[in-house]
Amino acid sequence: MSEFATLLIDGKEYKLPVIVGTEGEKAIDIRKLRQETGHITFDPGFGNTGSCQSAITFMDGEKGILRYRGIPIEQLAEKSTFVETAYLLMNGYLPDRESLTRTSVMLNDFSLLHEDMKFFYQNFPSKAHPMGILSAMVNALRSFYPELIDLDEDVNRTFLRIISKVRTMAAVAYKISRGHATVYPRPDYSYCANFLHMMFDNPVIPYRMDQELVDALNVFWILHADHEQNCSTAAVRVVGSGKVNIYAALSAGISALWGPLHGGANQAVIQMLEGMQQNNLTPAHVIEKARDKTDPFKLMGFGHRVYKTYDPRAKIMKTMCDKVLKKLQINDPLLDVAMELEEAALNDSYFQDKNLYPNVDFYSGIVLRAMGIPTKMFTVMFAIGRLPGWIAQWREDALDPNQKISRPRQVYMGETIRDYIPMDKR
Ligand code: ACO
Repeated sequence: MSEFATLLIDGKEYKLPVIVGTEGEKAIDIRKLRQETGHITFDPGFGNTGSCQSAITFMDGEKGILRYRGIPIEQLAEKSTFVETAYLLMNGYLPDRESLTRTSVMLNDFSLLHEDMKFFYQNFPSKAHPMGILSAMVNALRSFYPELIDLDEDVNRTFLRIISKVRTMAAVAYKISRGHATVYPRPDYSYCANFLHMMFDNPVIPYRMDQELVDALNVFWILHADHEQNCSTAAVRVVGSGKVNIYAALSAGISALWGPLHGGANQAVIQMLEGMQQNNLTPAHVIEKARDKTDPFKLMGFGHRVYKTYDPRAKIMKTMCDKVLKKLQINDPLLDVAMELEEAALNDSYFQDKNLYPNVDFYSGIVLRAMGIPTKMFTVMFAIGRLPGWIAQWREDALDPNQKISRPRQVYMGETIRDYIPMDKR
């Protein structure tokens, strides 16, 4: 039986349908609200607003659950690869052997950049942030590959082209920032191994591929592959809803991800931990600063709009961090600082009362440091991982017959009508 919510405005009752999701989540359908009542809803930051019906990712922030297409993140991190997870997100089901092989072959085929694209890199200032470069380059890809895409293909050429080339673009940006020769991908390497190869191989010191790091990178990218309607994904959907091409929508997502309250937090966490180390700041100092309402400082890598318990990705990331550092016999003092800070924050009443727990970014920087990734590239690493999710969300939006151009309303609080005053009378 259909469920309704009753709304009482000025003594008049309105019945609003309730939509129930497959996991029991309930949403009051207000699509006819303004038309029938003259009222709109007010929800800055959209904390209570469902913007779409989606079958891609399920999160339960109270229980710390994250599933891609129904499969728990813990199982994917343990058993899948990034390429297989990308296929799952984009298509809704796991690939059979043949589709997975075809996907891997196409990722290799698409991995070269058009040589003319290299000129773009040379004209960015040497100190340009790689996220700014990546967002511009992804937008530029449209000019090189303008052909239309068939949204129903399972191994979609355009999607794979983007996933493959963005990885190459990131590695090229790094090499150019160091003034080093760029390294071409190798057909015998997997997606993750090829990234490490393009980042770290050079003509005088060949890179020794370490399977431990390849596995860690697979897990890192699986953990970042989608996270339902977060800031950057919402940006991809909102921009895409104007029927813009996919490259422009993804470029908007990359720009949105850059912010320190979102994907930029992984860089900000490391900078915060380094600052503590250099200035001999104890966890108590930092926590005091984070508690201070007059100080805009936030404990980076803590808190989340949806998770009110430990972020399941952070748990996996922390375990992986321990494992990688031990296996590679790396002693990173920042890990000790991070663990002390985490313990102090989890035992602090401010963080307990507000349900603030570590999020995925708290330990991810330490894993990236172990791989040799420079801090400036951390958010780019997040962006590469998030591509399959953005693409899946863009595609879902493009295929949804109920989806309209995104156009929120506002409550106007400015001046009411008044006359223009000529210059000599002001
Ligand atoms: N340090 C100190 N106080 C915090 C923190 C933090 N990290 N996070 C939230 N709070 C406080 C807020 O000041 C607020 O206090 P109030 O109720 O007294 O005003 C309360 O906790 C609730 O937080 P909001 O800011 O309302 O929560 P919101 O959902 O809007 O923000 C966000 C979530 C942006 C992630 C926030 O927790 C934050 O800034 N964290 C630090 C940055 C970070 O790690 N971002 C990465 C998030 S994960 C990702 O995007 C990949």
